[in-house]
Amino acid sequence: MTPLIEANNLVRVYQMRRGLFGRPSPVRAVDGVSLSVMPGETLGIVGESGSGKSTLGRMLLGIDAAQEGTVRFQGQPMPALHSPEWRALRAKMQLVFQDPLAALDRRVTIARQIAEPLEIHRLMPRQHQGDRVAELMRAVGLRPDQAGRYPHELSGGQRQRAVIARALASRPKLLVCDEPVSALDVSIQAQVVNMMRDLQEKNGIAMVFISHDLKVVRNIADRVAVMYLGRIVEEASSDVIFRAPQHPYTKALVSSVPVPGKPLEGRVILQGEPPNPASRPSGCAFHPRCPLARDICRSVVPDLLEAGEGRTAACHVVAGETAPVAA
Ligand SMILES: Nc1ncnc2c1ncn2[C@@H]1O[C@H](COP(=O)(O)OP(=O)(O)OP(=O)(O)O)[C@@H](O)[C@H]1O
Ligand SMILES: [Mg+2]
Repeated sequence: MTPLIEANNLVRVYQMRRGLFGRPSPVRAVDGVSLSVMPGETLGIVGESGSGKSTLGRMLLGIDAAQEGTVRFQGQPMPALHSPEWRALRAKMQLVFQDPLAALDRRVTIARQIAEPLEIHRLMPRQHQGDRVAELMRAVGLRPDQAGRYPHELSGGQRQRAVIARALASRPKLLVCDEPVSALDVSIQAQVVNMMRDLQEKNGIAMVFISHDLKVVRNIADRVAVMYLGRIVEEASSDVIFRAPQHPYTKALVSSVPVPGKPLEGRVILQGEPPNPASRPSGCAFHPRCPLARDICRSVVPDLLEAGEGRTAACHVVAGETAPVAA
């Protein structure tokens, strides 16, 4: 089966100025990422702030152009941003991001905004749009009688539901969700995530779900990719990642998720400075914080290799332990 979306060796470099008068220096925000998502599948992307998650999400949709590498959607190369082909494709791939107030127009009722993709992509005559909007509102847990409200007349959770309804209006094949519940009250987060999961399953939508919050990702992702300074360091099914993380960074992330009834002893605490994309350490970028680091880790960048249970990991130490013995 052809993946719905497939990225090969994506690279995105930004020029970042250090200090007010400093010379710009290159930051490899996304540094050789390959991934694929099958139709109807949810891929979670996790990692600390600055690891390149949002940049990768935008690249998957062609909003940020890849400087190196390729993105293919349904087997076809991603068209150039704003080209007619790209605009047409946007009906099939939608973005939901963190701040619903920024995503919505304050002067327009939510019904009109939910109907926007139907207008833009000329999917439906006006007289039928009302029914479709009511259907979408019900699907995301809004009441159709709230249709005439303006964004500020809704709660944060309701606003994000409206944004999701709008994203679903054109019956997309792919949703890229960038921290979609991070701005919401913790008590609301689970409700919205469960609603998203139900909709995704019911409609067979594939999802790339970006979050720094592993609890949320665990709840929704089939597979999880862990990013560290622009690279994927481990990828596996959600079950494998949370049951038996292998990369030392994944281990630390997973063990920082509180589990009810489980004591805090034995947790791996992340040591050292959080990653600074402007000064990437040599070799394995994680080595300054890694409890297992050896000489090779300081000098050689580890490849992302298969490491059992359908997992890939980029770690010299882990690879050494699991590599098959040469005959
Ligand atoms: N438009 C831009 N111009 C310059 N640098 C950028 C730009 N966008 C992102 N970066 C840099 O690229 C790196 C990755 O940023 P990105 O926003 O993708 O990270 P992230 O994982 O989404 O972080 P967060 O969890 O904080 O949202 C960071 O170092 C960031 O400063
Ligand atoms: Mg981000």
